[in-house]
Amino acid sequence: DIQSSAICMDKSLAYIVARSAGIATPQFSVLNGTGMPAPNELTYPVFVKPARSGSSFGVTKVDGAGELDAAIAAATHYDTKVLIEQAIIGTEVGCAVLGNGAELIVGEVDQIKLRHGLFRIHQEAEPEKGSENAIITVPADLPEATRDQARETAKTIYTALGCKGLARVDMFLQDDGRMVLNEVSTLPGFTAYSRYPRMIAAAGISLSDVIDRCISLAMER
Ligand SMILES: Nc1ncnc2c1ncn2[C@@H]1O[C@H](COP(=O)(O)OP(=O)(O)O)[C@@H](O)[C@H]1O
Ligand SMILES: [Mg+2]
Repeated sequence: DIQSSAICMDKSLAYIVARSAGIATPQFSVLNGTGMPAPNELTYPVFVKPARSGSSFGVTKVDGAGELDAAIAAATHYDTKVLIEQAIIGTEVGCAVLGNGAELIVGEVDQIKLRHGLFRIHQEAEPEKGSENAIITVPADLPEATRDQARETAKTIYTALGCKGLARVDMFLQDDGRMVLNEVSTLPGFTAYSRYPRMIAAAGISLSDVIDRCISLAMER
């Protein structure tokens, strides 16, 4: 869907819309164009990232003020609009969502467990063999109630952002149990190592079924 994709493509716009619908997002600020961080209440560590990029290109975890300029330069390489956001302490979970309206289909919830740094499987030389610092588990190694909470939050986020067809909703599960939006991919990967098809398959839905349903959902509109 074009309109929701336009919003989700820009992480700051997605956060603004999601927040207004009562969904938790990281605290963030957008660089004000002079290259200086806007006044804010962020405390380190923070993540500096291009507002409109992907696959972790230009994303840096910053542990102190001394690393900030280099991180901003790295993000600026990919976009003129740069976000600085609070690091969320917890784990990463995702959910595949399919549908146009009230009756949404959700896949199994997955989980990214990081040993260090940030998730960057797309920058591995051979991503199909996995990631140096991350393990992706489907279904997530979390209690059923927490996975249900992830599915419900994903549906709320999907609806709030006006998504149609399909999207992958990425969230952080904070150590205090709160789900926080990370980002929504309205064009998730469908490679052999991609998360969306694995989450959908784990829920017993075949890839050909996803494609059939996508066509029907598009015709419906
Ligand atoms: N606020 C944050 N707190 C914790 N980790 C983060 C945060 N923002 C990004 N990350 C890490 O960086 C990765 C890439 O950032 P993300 O916002 O998902 O951008 P991309 O569109 O490039 O995937 C995430 O999967 C996560 O590992
Ligand atoms: Mg991401």
